[in-house]
Amino acid sequence: MRSVVTGVGGYLPDQVVTNDDLAKIVDTSDAWIVERTGIRQRHRAADDQPVSDLAVAAARRALEAAGRTPADVDLIVVATTTGDLTFPATATIVQRKLGCPVGIAFDVQAVCSGFVYALSVADGFVARNRAKCALVIGAETMTRLMDWTDRGTCVLFGDGAGAVVVEPQAGEGTTADRGLLGFALRADGTKQDLLYVDGGVSTSGQIGHLRMQGNQVFRHAVVNISEAINAAAADAGIDVAEVDWFIPHQANLRILEGVARRCGIDDAKVITTVADHANTSAASIPLALNTAVADGRIKPGQLLLLEAMGGGLTWGACVLRL
Ligand code: ACO
Repeated sequence: MRSVVTGVGGYLPDQVVTNDDLAKIVDTSDAWIVERTGIRQRHRAADDQPVSDLAVAAARRALEAAGRTPADVDLIVVATTTGDLTFPATATIVQRKLGCPVGIAFDVQAVCSGFVYALSVADGFVARNRAKCALVIGAETMTRLMDWTDRGTCVLFGDGAGAVVVEPQAGEGTTADRGLLGFALRADGTKQDLLYVDGGVSTSGQIGHLRMQGNQVFRHAVVNISEAINAAAADAGIDVAEVDWFIPHQANLRILEGVARRCGIDDAKVITTVADHANTSAASIPLALNTAVADGRIKPGQLLLLEAMGGGLTWGACVLRL
């Protein structure tokens, strides 16, 4: 059985931080940030707003779009690097806050690639008939991991959450060719030093700060992601040229344009939200998807290509028909 995305939702915290705001705390400028990254602003969660609150808001909207309620949900997979607590998983906190019945709930940690990994995990449960209504959520409070003295990283990230509902194809309102059609997931632990957080429970005992060799990550991103895109397209049995919309992880405008060019994807098919959201890690793909579904560009029945790359390094791609 194939699994299908039946609803999409997103949530961004109210506070907006512009490039000019950041130029007041580090030696940077709006012109530099826009030219090198395409980012103009990012959203920041309030101090008393845990990532589970962002996830719950996005999940409610996705459930509503799918015509489902929390009572229907039997699987919750949250992709996050910035969970509320060391344990329990943010997914079980979301389960409690939404009032979902006893079911399956856990987190997936693959940093910026987390949403693609989580979607693949949920596909495994739903396609094998082990779950009937899955919430797959990418939710992050990346601003909590910033070193606000490091201009090379603190300008790049933002907070937010996006969610999708995944159900069996046989479910109400689905048609034969819809579904999660192909995946390619990759990881290379030897590249850890390029992008990591310098703290952890079993090492420093501190949360730590995000550290990155930005130009090295950039170099790996375009080549590796392109390979994964072609592998996911082959897994789905489609040609990349058939894709209606390309929804890349929103890290940097130059990376996503470079990937699109290398894969022969027309600029007009690329969904970009990086200017307004910055890099929200695991939340960036479902947030971009939600933006383009909400504004009417992406329509049911269209063929979508998702891709991401993040710390690990991890990366991956997914082809789906909405
Ligand atoms: N404002 C002004 N100057 C800056 C800033 C800033 N915010 N940040 C760095 N600089 C300076 C550097 O200090 C350096 O100055 P120097 O030459 O005097 O030493 C100069 O700009 C060039 O630095 P580089 O790091 O070489 O600049 P680059 O063109 O590579 O741009 C950037 C940096 C934007 C981080 C880029 O490398 C990038 O986007 N990399 C991808 C990383 C990324 O997106 N990671 C997210 C997670 S992974 C992923 O999702 C793909």
